[in-house]
Amino acid sequence: MSDTAKLSYNGKEFELPVTEGSENELAIDIAKLRGQSGIITLDPGFKNTGSTKSAITFLDGEKGILRYRGYNIEDLAEKSNFLEVSYLLINGELPNKSQYDNFCQEITMHTLVHEDIKKILGGFPSVAHPMGVLSSLICSLTAFYPNSLDPNNSDKEINLSIVRLMAKLPTFAAWAYKNKVGHPVNYPDNKLDYCSNFLKMMFALPAETYEADPVISKALDQLLILHADHEQNCSTSTVRIVGSSQASIYASISAGVNALWGPLHGGANQSVIEMLEAIKEDGGNTKKWLDKAKDKNDPFRLMGFGHRVYKNFDPRAKIIKKAADDVLDKLGIDDPILEIAKELEEAALGDQYFVDRKLYPNVDFYSGIIYRALGIPTDMFTVMFALGRLPGWIAQWKEMRENNEPIGRPRQIYVGATKRDYKEISKR
Ligand code: CMC
Repeated sequence: MSDTAKLSYNGKEFELPVTEGSENELAIDIAKLRGQSGIITLDPGFKNTGSTKSAITFLDGEKGILRYRGYNIEDLAEKSNFLEVSYLLINGELPNKSQYDNFCQEITMHTLVHEDIKKILGGFPSVAHPMGVLSSLICSLTAFYPNSLDPNNSDKEINLSIVRLMAKLPTFAAWAYKNKVGHPVNYPDNKLDYCSNFLKMMFALPAETYEADPVISKALDQLLILHADHEQNCSTSTVRIVGSSQASIYASISAGVNALWGPLHGGANQSVIEMLEAIKEDGGNTKKWLDKAKDKNDPFRLMGFGHRVYKNFDPRAKIIKKAADDVLDKLGIDDPILEIAKELEEAALGDQYFVDRKLYPNVDFYSGIIYRALGIPTDMFTVMFALGRLPGWIAQWKEMRENNEPIGRPRQIYVGATKRDYKEISKR
């Protein structure tokens, strides 16, 4: 196979190196093209642009393959747990027993947050969306740990920031919820595992004893694994690009939370449930809503459907659909919107519009149904996604730093006014 590609323009030919990944993916390296020819490449939405070489996650959208560090998502979701997967993503290899125990221990010891965080939290009105609160609290870590602002932090200092993030995010997330409902916050319980501790901070009330249901903890743990990384995407690339300016890891992850928030990305899980509720309220007429999604004059999209890279199926959605059935069954919940979701999915998969565009249910289509069954309120769904995605963002930030990647700075094609003379306001 040739290791160069040729581009001809205006009678001139330019030779460009071709680079190959470990799964035989090919890319034409255009980094020097502008210097050679004065031409840039244009690709709004980065639909066909690789921004980095990464050894973290492999994804084949045509075949529905997703692997973290070479391990199939199906195996990890079934056999591993979230902290082990987090270790794998961040450090590149599965931990041995003592590495795993150390990692869990370190994270457990940092779950407590500074008491002054409560003052920041108290400044948010109860209508504040928990994603905005989460992002703000993460960014506030730059103030509590100013040393993290130094781009020359040692590996040990970086590791401490990573541990703090992994440990404190569940506390922030649960506290964002408590602030919303006007309840006193719960402090972390370090005797519990990662998910049970989070559930207790979310749901324990002062006058009652609370013990997380192991079915719920397990299901949550699996959901976090399924969300843990997804190579380059809106939030992950945001984390990398913010980090490329040598902003601190806290600032970079906080930016990732904001990028995840939108309904076209992680916010879709909240939008799916709102959509299914609206369909139910509307009498369950799925055909009407499918028609709305196909109508180009209607801005409505079928939430939880379609993906930039998966064009056959989203392997995470397959696992989640089965998990949704299991969880509802185990918890004895009969949720009418599950039926609407299944009906909608079946109708869409048999509809020419969706078939032609290769639109399949994505990770968010069924995740909201499980979160609902687990008692998680709808506006906390995207926060759950952020908790899951955290180790992926950390791994990607760390890789960007270790590779010493240059600051992210895309080009553009200017299409605005050409040079014109300024006129004072009185003469306009
Ligand atoms: N409902 C109706 N039509 C759709 C949908 C949808 N959900 N998704 C894509 N299309 C149509 C779109 O109108 C376009 O049609 P046409 O070719 O006639 O103009 C075609 O399919 C291609 O869409 P696109 O917007 O060019 O595709 P994209 O790769 O830019 O967008 C997407 C991907 C996920 C933003 C999009 O499919 C979408 O908006 N889906 C709904 C939101 C959603 O579920 N997001 C969660 C994604 S998974 C979680 C994550 O990792 O972020």
